[in-house]
This record gives sequence, structure tokens and C-alpha cells, in this order.
Amino acid sequence: MRNQIVAGNWKMNNDTAETEILLDNLMQHQIREDVSVYIAPAFTQLTQSVVKLKNYPIAVAAQNMNAVASVAHTGEISSSMLKGVGVNTVILGHSERRSLYGETDDSLKVKVIKAIEDGMGIMFCFGEELSERKENKHFELVKMQLDSALFDLPNNAWKQIILAYEPVWAIGTGETASPGQVQEMHAFIREQIKLQYDSELANQVSILYGGSVKPNNAKEIFSMTDVDGGLIGGASLKSDDFMAIVNAF
Ligand code: 13P
Repeated sequence: MRNQIVAGNWKMNNDTAETEILLDNLMQHQIREDVSVYIAPAFTQLTQSVVKLKNYPIAVAAQNMNAVASVAHTGEISSSMLKGVGVNTVILGHSERRSLYGETDDSLKVKVIKAIEDGMGIMFCFGEELSERKENKHFELVKMQLDSALFDLPNNAWKQIILAYEPVWAIGTGETASPGQVQEMHAFIREQIKLQYDSELANQVSILYGGSVKPNNAKEIFSMTDVDGGLIGGASLKSDDFMAIVNAF
């Protein structure tokens, strides 16, 4: 059985005081053992979150990392810095990094290789824009994103990878992909892994959906055969909503 995962991407939200409150509220909840739960706070809140969640079953992930180690890159963070504060998982390829900060499939490939080498877990995000879906190019585009950034990796690197399909048109818009659209794409992604590698690996990789997942739609989305959980933005900022999503399996 594949790992069931719910991760909260806090994006550029929650300063120290707000993080304290949200973590206190999250920690009021009992976490089910059959779901791996992550939060991804801003860099400045990573240590605070790791320390606070020390004896609590929520893992802390970063939202980005640089592809190189200690060099002159003002404003950047390396994998060893993340590991040094107890963070062993990183989100890479989020559409906001791609559209606002110029990350490309090629630059992401380099980050992925570095993260794998350094033993980091990766939540790799990808997904089409609305215009690409309207032109019926979404499968082609997703295949290209996976091909360029991930499909040269050796089979054993995939133990470190969680995929997150996030159609850009569904992020922060309140417009969720329908469960049918999500299942169709997730099945397509699994098929691509099977074609590139083998069916054993294809059946092991967890594929999350992200894009306006809320307590009222999570259950239906998570019930789809090829959906193994969610990467949650807005709803991860409210503890009750986030926990309702965790409990939607
Ligand atoms: P929303 O849940 O706010 O649509 O954000 C999804 C997302 O971008 C998670 O990475």
C-alpha cells in the first residue's frame, strides 16, 4: 500500500507569533497513524517548528532549497543548512517558484539531483496552466515536466520522491479540479512512471493533488484510486480545516 500523505504548504504566511499559535492549535489534535502529515513553513520558522513538533507526529519540510552547497549565493539556503535544523524534506518546483522566480524544468533538475544526493525527501510539484488545459495540452505538458526533471533518475532515487500534481488554474482560486480530472491525470502520471521504469515503482510512488483542497472536497478527491493525499495551501493555515483534510481519508 502506498503512503497516504497530507502536507500543508504555508507559503509566505505565519511569522513567529502566528506559527506558535497555529502549531499550538494543530497539536490539540490526535494525528492518525496511517497518514504522514507535513507542514512547510517559511525558512525563518523551520527551527521553531522542528523544536515545537519534536515529540509530535508532524514532519517539517522546507519550501525550497538551492542546488549548490556553501558558495556566494546571497539569500539562498542549502540542503546541509536544512538538514542542520532537522529538516529532511523539501518542496521543489512549486508553480509560484516557476512563475514568480523563474524556475524551469532544467534548473529544477539540478536541484532534484542535489537533493537526492544529499538524502533529502522531495515533494516535486508540477501541473499545467489554464491555457494549456484549454488547448488540451495538459497531458503533454505534465509528461514534459516529469521527463525533464525526474525521468533520468535511477530507480532507487524514487524512494525519496513524492509527486504533487498541482494544476496552476486550481491554486488559490477556489476552483478545484474535479475528482474525475484529478484521477485521470494521476493515472496518466502513474502510467508514465510505468513506461519509464516499471509497474512496481509506478505502484509505489505517492501522488498528491494540490489546488483548492478544502474540508468539503478532500474526501471525494482522496477516494480516487490514484490519489494518495494532498498538498494544501490556504486550508493548511487553519488548524481545524487542515486536520479535517488529514482525516478525510
Ligand atoms: P491552495 O490550496 O491555496 O489552492 O494552494 C495549493 C498549493 O499551492 C499547495 O502547494
